Amino acid sequence: MSKITRRDFIKIVSRVLPATGLAVTIAPIVAYFYPSNLEDSPTEPVRVGRIDELPENESKTVLFGRYPAIVVNTSQGLRAFSAVCTHFACIVKWNKEIGQFACPCHAGFYDPIDGHVISGPPPRPLASIPFNIVNDEIYIGGFIRNRRD
Ligand code: FES
Repeated sequence: MSKITRRDFIKIVSRVLPATGLAVTIAPIVAYFYPSNLEDSPTEPVRVGRIDELPENESKTVLFGRYPAIVVNTSQGLRAFSAVCTHFACIVKWNKEIGQFACPCHAGFYDPIDGHVISGPPPRPLASIPFNIVNDEIYIGGFIRNRRD
């Protein structure tokens, strides 16, 4: 078995430390620009508001964990999605004139019924979020944990 000399040790440390520092520095930046849509979802349901406050073709955006979620009352009922665009993570808005979610950054458009990409560069649909209505109040997320209780 060969011994590691002081010089070898310093060489190893001088290579490992910068790589570790670089990874520690870059990881939060990458996570900021490329958030995984629902990874940081809250475990408890998030209240959106009263159902009568959301007439047909209106939407409401709420904070869902670290990222916003958008709930829209479509002609086929309520739908809830992560508002984080799957292209470069801009926040999509509800465009009631055309009845689609629109991303202002690179003109990505999403379908409000299932979140699929209608046009533009987004590679994936918007992430759907389960919702529930309790006593005329809309709640999103948090139901998987509740089912186990
Ligand atoms: S970030 Fe949404 S289309 Fe590019």
